[in-house]
Amino acid sequence: MGDMQEFTAATELADWGWPETRALGGGSDDPFEAASLGGTWRPKDRHFGVWHEGRVVAHAGSVVAPVEVGGQRFDVVGIGGVIVDPALRGRGLARLAVAGALDAARADGLDRALLFCLPDRAPLYTRLGWFPLPDPVTADQPDGPTPVPVGGMWKPLVPGADWPDGPVRLHSLPM
Ligand SMILES: CC(C)(COP(=O)(O)OP(=O)(O)OC[C@H]1O[C@@H](n2cnc3c(N)ncnc32)[C@H](O)[C@@H]1OP(=O)(O)O)[C@@H](O)C(=O)NCCC(=O)NCCS
Repeated sequence: MGDMQEFTAATELADWGWPETRALGGGSDDPFEAASLGGTWRPKDRHFGVWHEGRVVAHAGSVVAPVEVGGQRFDVVGIGGVIVDPALRGRGLARLAVAGALDAARADGLDRALLFCLPDRAPLYTRLGWFPLPDPVTADQPDGPTPVPVGGMWKPLVPGADWPDGPVRLHSLPM
């Protein structure tokens, strides 16, 4: 394992978009290996990065969106676009990038986070304190509400935050 001391906490990035994500992923046109899922995904509103030797080596994006579940409606921070320089994976950088996005959301008063990920990446998020949602989340799509084709996970951002039982409706494109 690498020395975690050499990396500092994520900071918010002023300029981040698809070209930067693509480059960070090593130039692949499908850096998240999710193109086959199809669907319309929401661009992220805020971007957080870990800097190393003058460049961003890990990124996480976030949005805020309302969900309805179990008769309750509340805002969540939606996390997406998590990507780490291929040469620096396995050294805690995804953890740092996601923590940056979650810390900012917590500072804004949000108490729950939501993300979608492929099944082979779920163990990583479990390790980072996320819990799988049992059923598909229904989210907006251009043609109307549609089940998201990969599983949702949620994470409490403050002590005592819980997630109600029941089908989840995300009033946003998935992120
Ligand atoms: C997925 C990805 C972001 C992980 O980045 P990373 O920097 O290697 O992840 P980290 O080192 O921060 O790992 C975070 C934690 O998850 C654990 N972990 C990583 N992969 C795991 C796995 N397959 N199973 C279980 N735990 C795992 C790590 O041990 C670490 O735990 P620790 O900090 O307690 O040791 C990176 O591989 C990547 O950029 N992949 C391509 C893009 C992508 O798929 N993004 C995710 C979309 S949901």
